[in-house]
Amino acid sequence: MSRTVLITGPELATDAMNLAAAEGVRIIPTTPYLPADELQAIIQAEQPDAIIVRQGQLTRAMIGASAKLKVIAKHGVGYNTIDIQAAAERGVPVTIATGANAQSVAEHAFALMFSVARQTALLDARLRAGHWDKATANGIELSGKTLGLIGLGSIGSILMDLVAPLRMTVKVYDPYLKELPQRAHVEREENLDRLLADCDVISLHCPLTDSNHHLIGAPQLARMRPNSIIINTARGELIDTTALVEALREGKIAGAGLDTFNPEPPPADSPLWGLTNLVATPHIGANTSQARDRVGQVALRQILDVCNSIALDPRCVVNRHLLDN
Ligand SMILES: NC(=O)c1ccc[n+]([C@@H]2O[C@H](COP(=O)([O-])OP(=O)(O)OC[C@H]3O[C@@H](n4cnc5c(N)ncnc54)[C@H](O)[C@@H]3O)[C@@H](O)[C@H]2O)c1
Repeated sequence: MSRTVLITGPELATDAMNLAAAEGVRIIPTTPYLPADELQAIIQAEQPDAIIVRQGQLTRAMIGASAKLKVIAKHGVGYNTIDIQAAAERGVPVTIATGANAQSVAEHAFALMFSVARQTALLDARLRAGHWDKATANGIELSGKTLGLIGLGSIGSILMDLVAPLRMTVKVYDPYLKELPQRAHVEREENLDRLLADCDVISLHCPLTDSNHHLIGAPQLARMRPNSIIINTARGELIDTTALVEALREGKIAGAGLDTFNPEPPPADSPLWGLTNLVATPHIGANTSQARDRVGQVALRQILDVCNSIALDPRCVVNRHLLDN
């Protein structure tokens, strides 16, 4: 039977589109970040069997707009834009593509660390504007420094190994981690305040949940070292932007590398744009051909499995605890 899959954003990468064609799946891409009523109207008109969430929110009303909806698949892993409770109430599982984009995001976090430490974005902009800052530029060497990871899942674990050749020590803060991988350079830190005080680089790799909004606020930034760097490729809401701007402006910390913001995109008059010790990218940590190929295929296979009554890996179903009730 032909299935309809609506995407909140552009169509999938080539391999996933080929898979869809081979399986007789009709794919309906939409314009990213449509106004809510417009997207809801499209869902109402198309009555998709599944929705792949790429950009923007998937609300209770949107979820309720298709009577045929059987599964919602996140094109990635950050599912905070999906009303998983509303989906569960309709018996609809919400899946994530666990691990499929982790390598790309970890590499981007790694790149941001270097970029902030060596001010490459600023120096590039200055050079293009006619300045030759050779005499004045000064950076931070990462070798031998201590990296604090907040969250050691798919992405944090890859970053942990990426920094090993730099002889960096890695401290891990992850209250839900069952077992710390055995590595000579890695140790566990149960206390977030101590992690912040003891590290030269802090990188966030935890999901945004109901309990960790502004996990990093003014008190936490005050505990960080003056020469330290913070990297956020996780979710913007994890950091209090106002407090971060103040910490960067007053030199309480040395720099920040941000791929995620609250809100996204930040407004044109955001105080972030006046900071020379900030490197910013527009939530593109997972934007590589390789990650897109993997994520698109994983999302589509999860949808096909649900449609064919094949059991999903429960670790990929983020509202399973709500579905059980
Ligand atoms: N920038 C991007 O393009 C991009 C792409 C993918 C994922 N992400 C973000 O990165 C996050 C991590 O992705 P992942 O694939 O590594 O997820 P994951 O589920 O594999 O790992 C998350 C880890 O965070 C831990 N954790 C949960 N709450 C925590 C808390 N309050 N403090 C510390 N640790 C906590 C979990 O125990 C888990 O080990 C995603 O939730 C998503 O928000 C961003």
